[in-house]
Amino acid sequence: MKKETIEVIKRICKELNIEVHELSYGWIFKLSKDNKIRYITGNFDINRTSSSKIASDKYATYEVLKSQNIPIIKHTMVFNPEKRKRYVKENEIWNIVYNEFNKEGKVVVKPNFGFEGKGVFLCDTIEKTEKAVKLLLDNNTSISICPYYDIEREYRAFYLNGEVLLIYEKNKPSVIGNGKDNIRTLVENLKLPKNDIVKNNLSKLDMEYIPKINEKVELSWKYNLHGGATAKVIGKENKLYEEIEKLAIKSGKALDMTFATIDIINTKNNELYVLEINSGVATGIFSKIVENGKKISEDIYKKALVEIFK
Ligand SMILES: Nc1ncnc2c1ncn2[C@@H]1O[C@H](COP(=O)(O)OP(=O)(O)O)[C@@H](O)[C@H]1O
Ligand SMILES: [Mg+2]
Repeated sequence: MKKETIEVIKRICKELNIEVHELSYGWIFKLSKDNKIRYITGNFDINRTSSSKIASDKYATYEVLKSQNIPIIKHTMVFNPEKRKRYVKENEIWNIVYNEFNKEGKVVVKPNFGFEGKGVFLCDTIEKTEKAVKLLLDNNTSISICPYYDIEREYRAFYLNGEVLLIYEKNKPSVIGNGKDNIRTLVENLKLPKNDIVKNNLSKLDMEYIPKINEKVELSWKYNLHGGATAKVIGKENKLYEEIEKLAIKSGKALDMTFATIDIINTKNNELYVLEINSGVATGIFSKIVENGKKISEDIYKKALVEIFK
């Protein structure tokens, strides 16, 4: 768990008279109150084991939601033929891959157990698709191929026991030209997170290029806060709020989640789909980049802690 999250947990527990013990080098938080014991591990995951496992597997989430008629972006399974011999043979996977690419013309290839946008590739040629599949199969037991969806905006809903506590919208990281500064300077002003995802995104751009006045240059096609995307809290005044809230509640219940974040996209055709569900609730970057973000995330964690001791 991140240092900030640990501090938040300790602070809230003190307020709620919950005793805290850190075990196993800080991996486990043992919380006790009124003769009840609860554990938090990893990224504040307090869900049932099976629900948590389903959520951390993108293909599994797809099947579970689809089986309950909940709109989720389409996933096609590609097993690693070496590690999952029972399910697939080497020659079969390429038929699946070519078939999906030919049908869609533009696909996204991703590990089923991925996070933070790592290893998520946009492929608009068969060569790029083959390359991404091969690369991912080196390190993953299974991956998914999804059609590319033209996203108007992405949202994250915080779900706790049948309720939505917060929704924020995400915007892709971008710079706006002023006719004078090059991309390097414009990017420096953004204070992007310092990590490999951002480095990798920026490596694809010509940093010396000077965008024209008001020219928008996107730094990534993905909406991950770890890649520099920005967040803005939305409320009931947003015309999509209630629809997103409804979809998030249906999805949370369908996966039998206790506490989760549910990512939802609105496409350019104005259709909402679930993108993925995260069983570990992380607010690290959100707390830093949104006004009042720290307080908002503390309130969310507090509600979750009250809930698990009920
Ligand atoms: N099928 C898709 N079409 C368009 N964009 C996608 C698609 N899949 C993923 N993305 C973009 O990539 C980002 C990361 O993908 P996601 O499935 O959420 O993996 P991760 O768990 O690594 O965040 C998403 O937030 C979204 O912006
Ligand atoms: Mg994601």
